[in-house]
Amino acid sequence: MDPGSGVVYPVGLRLLDRRVVVVGGGQVAHRRVAGLLAARARVTLVSPEVTPALEALVEPGSLTWVRRRYEPGDLDGAWYAVAATDDPAVNAAVAAEAERARIFCARADDRAASSVWTPAVGRHGELVVGVHGGGDPQRAIGVRDAVVAGLTDGSIADRAARTPEAARGGSVVLVGGGPGDPGLITVRGRQAVAQADVVVADHLAPLTLLESLPASVEVIDASKLPRGRSMAQEQINALLVEHALAGKRVVRLKGGDPFVFGRGMEELEACVAAGVPVEVVPGVTSAISVPALAGIPVTHRGLTHEFVVVSGHLPPGHPQSLVDWPAIARLRGTVVVLMGVDTAPAIAAALVEHGRAPDTPVGVVADGSTPTQRVVRTTLAGLPRTVAEAGIRPPAVWVVGAVVALNAPHDAPPQDDADLD
Ligand SMILES: C[S@@+](CC[C@H](N)C(=O)[O-])C[C@H]1O[C@@H](n2cnc3c(N)ncnc32)[C@H](O)[C@@H]1O
Repeated sequence: MDPGSGVVYPVGLRLLDRRVVVVGGGQVAHRRVAGLLAARARVTLVSPEVTPALEALVEPGSLTWVRRRYEPGDLDGAWYAVAATDDPAVNAAVAAEAERARIFCARADDRAASSVWTPAVGRHGELVVGVHGGGDPQRAIGVRDAVVAGLTDGSIADRAARTPEAARGGSVVLVGGGPGDPGLITVRGRQAVAQADVVVADHLAPLTLLESLPASVEVIDASKLPRGRSMAQEQINALLVEHALAGKRVVRLKGGDPFVFGRGMEELEACVAAGVPVEVVPGVTSAISVPALAGIPVTHRGLTHEFVVVSGHLPPGHPQSLVDWPAIARLRGTVVVLMGVDTAPAIAAALVEHGRAPDTPVGVVADGSTPTQRVVRTTLAGLPRTVAEAGIRPPAVWVVGAVVALNAPHDAPPQDDADLD
């Protein structure tokens, strides 16, 4: 072996049930043992002392601990060895025995004397990333971390990845995209987008994520589908099913969370009815995140013990409304209204009529998480005028309750539930 050579031949050792001997019982040995056990090797540990973490593996029988110093012959029958003591002479003796017996041996203290160089290893599902740094372990670790992070956040597309369902006949993932900022989608959501063959996107979804997709990915703007509202939903359901049955990985990219006024269940039911595998990836709902981005928490210790999220798409008194506005008006906590810009005057009037104080603080947040985000603060009585004067347009969330005033000076909350935070 040329000690100066940086040339390696990378392989993946399949160590299942094969004897591996690790000499040493410290931190380095522990790291190597963890990887070897993950590969389900039959590990024998030779060391007079071991770390508590290693000792904890002995009891359940995960490894065999030979509680003494290394002796020649300890590598008998081994397929692979690790010399990881803090005594170079012992490590040298282990490596020499391994060399004579033609057992590959990783010598943790001396790279040049090691017949094996261990790569920086990262895992992403079934995928294993191993990086050799050409003699620079920190470089290998940096590249390994970057690759795993890229696979995790979807910026490195694992496009050939196929779940068993997808291999059989396509699939649908209902992805909650968050309030619009591409940084507020979940890691799983981002992965699904990166692996999609077809994306059916809503206009409130984080559409900038789609710019980096390859041209081969079909992007369908769901808001541009022709015909009326309910027909459009039927068309979306049909599109999802049709593409999935054609073997495509379909992502339905929605704003916020798919199950908060998002019609996600209708899409899920359509997929299930057609026998299409479907996964739901929850999202960060605008009901909570948009107020939060404006500095409004929907709860606050000692001030608000409840919050309710209401759709304002129908005004109070509308024959199809399912909302009990008088009951909502009696609540003392936070009321969050979605889809309630045009109906704001009628809803505010109903809340006051049924008991909420006219001077209750209200915060209106439009275009939350986007560069055009706007926040205006008013009261229930002042809401209609504020919405009109500020020219508030959808999408907007408005919040009623004492939490809206929290950025103003206020009394310290009473210490009534100190166990919560
Ligand atoms: C059909 S609902 C969908 C809600 C979504 N599923 C969620 O969980 O956020 C659309 C309404 O959500 C609210 N909304 C969604 N994104 C918003 C944003 N970025 N800023 C303000 N409001 C938003 C608005 O009230 C909008 O009319």
